[in-house]
Amino acid sequence: MFDLATRTALVTGGGQSVGEGIARTLGGQGAHVLVNDIVAERAHRVVDAIQAAGGSAEAVIFDVTDLDAVQRSCASTGVIDIVVNNAGNGGAEGMRPRPFKDMTPADWEGPIRVNLYGVLHTTHAVINGMLERGWGRLITISSGAGSIGVGIGVSPYSAAKGAGQAFMRSIAVEVARTGVTANSVALGLMENVAGGEVTGPLAKSIPVGRLGTPDDVGAMCVYLASDEAAWVTGQTVHVNGGSLTT
Ligand SMILES: NC(=O)c1ccc[n+]([C@@H]2O[C@H](COP(=O)([O-])OP(=O)(O)OC[C@H]3O[C@@H](n4cnc5c(N)ncnc54)[C@H](O)[C@@H]3O)[C@@H](O)[C@H]2O)c1
Repeated sequence: MFDLATRTALVTGGGQSVGEGIARTLGGQGAHVLVNDIVAERAHRVVDAIQAAGGSAEAVIFDVTDLDAVQRSCASTGVIDIVVNNAGNGGAEGMRPRPFKDMTPADWEGPIRVNLYGVLHTTHAVINGMLERGWGRLITISSGAGSIGVGIGVSPYSAAKGAGQAFMRSIAVEVARTGVTANSVALGLMENVAGGEVTGPLAKSIPVGRLGTPDDVGAMCVYLASDEAAWVTGQTVHVNGGSLTT
């Protein structure tokens, strides 16, 4: 089960943290992994790690907010069966929580561009190929903050993540008869939040008693990317140690 040996998977922002875990896990299940990042060294390091583990991977360097670059790069890599839209600013980089009343447009343009436009761009670049081949998997890494109000000063990020979930739901229904599925994976608190290991009350507030790991997310992506998940589409799957139960 969950054999991805015939598939090529693009993982955006795959050069570290959650994206690295997703790329490595997909590679471990046999997928040829296109490891994207805006920072070339990060992508190349993950490619080396996947290859060292016996897998197949190559680096594709582009900025997901740049539609032309996304389209050029996706066209030149050939068939893409699976896209995991992971690039975002959920970790220490780019996440500076503060009240919306103190924000300026610059504070919301960044989160919206990477977390929402990035998803639209990659989807637009690959969807025609998926429809022609009659098989595809679109997976967007989201956040609990896109599903509920979190009140921690990340409202533009929440808006972008919620919109990404809505986009996956909508496109899922639009292409439902074609063999292409679209889902979101909404994460809770991950190990790299705030740039380091989080312990104490924050970790203890999670029902299972620990922060999430990239492998936790990778395993869900493998499932959603598989043939076996053909009947799972338009969903937001929460991977969060029980923090948000709906
Ligand atoms: N870390 C968390 O606690 C957490 C919680 C909920 C959701 N998430 C989501 O998980 C995903 C990964 O988060 P993370 O914590 O691993 O982030 P991270 O900042 O550790 O890593 C993100 C990677 O994406 C790359 N990247 C950033 N902008 C890019 C762009 N425009 N184009 C291409 N690559 C780009 C970065 O270089 C980096 O390697 C994000 O979508 C985030 O919103 C994270």
